[in-house]
Amino acid sequence: MKYPEVRMRRLRKSKNIEDLVAETTVTSSDLILPLFFDENISVDRPVSSMPGVVNHPLSGYEQVGNAIEESGVKSVMVFGTPKRKDICGTQASAPDGVSQRAIQGLKDNSHLVVIADLCMCEYTDHGHCGIVRNGVVDNDKTLLQYGKIAVSQAEAGADIIAPSGMMDGQVSAIRMALDDANFSDVSIMAYSAKYCSSFYGPFRDAVDSSFKGSRSTYQMQCGNSREAMREIALDIDEGADIIMVKPALPYMDIIREARNRFDNPIAAYQVSGEYAMIQAAAANGWIDGNRAMMESLVSIKRAGADMIITYFAENAARVLR
Ligand code: PBG
Repeated sequence: MKYPEVRMRRLRKSKNIEDLVAETTVTSSDLILPLFFDENISVDRPVSSMPGVVNHPLSGYEQVGNAIEESGVKSVMVFGTPKRKDICGTQASAPDGVSQRAIQGLKDNSHLVVIADLCMCEYTDHGHCGIVRNGVVDNDKTLLQYGKIAVSQAEAGADIIAPSGMMDGQVSAIRMALDDANFSDVSIMAYSAKYCSSFYGPFRDAVDSSFKGSRSTYQMQCGNSREAMREIALDIDEGADIIMVKPALPYMDIIREARNRFDNPIAAYQVSGEYAMIQAAAANGWIDGNRAMMESLVSIKRAGADMIITYFAENAARVLR
């Protein structure tokens, strides 16, 4: 059968019919809001390249948690900027470090699922994601640090540890460290397919990164898709509970391919540059910001993601209400 018997427009006749045949929906339970905490400030500091995003001081957790919960968002991902950065990123695993205090503050004052981003780039003075030796990031030395950081974040109360450094073997190193410390119930969300991307620019603003170089010796090159599948398969083998593709919009084919091949829950990270582009265009009146926000989120889910880490989380949840 074809036209005129078939008329695709019949099922687009009204909003309610459209809702009935909707294949993809986004709910506030799918959204994870990244949160920045900075040990150096005492009041909220806006991130200039990310309109609507602020850096929080290490206080007022109840207020921060309440506002998020009230929007309908149930999960957050914590990033920290320490007072002192050094060559080994020692503050990353400090029991009273910025991410540990923020995690504990949120857990004590809310019912939010708290995901801890685990990396060293916010804590090292050179800005690399691990221990640098002779000018290169030393994979295996870095793994020892990651294990310590994971345990300190679990001790602070993190529900999920999310290693973002793209070191080989990081998932198994963290799984073993957590299990040895009796945190076998803490999950791992692995940044499995993380690309070396220009879209992280505004994030580096947010965490006051001193980074000048390139992460191309550990993050993936943008043209590779089969390599992403190998990364994901390895992480699942090492014990990842949730796998991640990052960034999201420019890498939707990777999300789809991962969905077709693997059964683990898939997270997609709509990164700072993706957020900034939509906000900038909206601020200029070039696009409708709210519609572009929702369209991007629905599209990421349609590609195959189960959950989305997005700076739009709170806003989108309010629109969904
Ligand atoms: C690294 C990390 C980065 C992001 C999340 N974790 C930056 C990087 O790899 O350079 C980027 C997030 C974003 O751009 O929103 N710890």
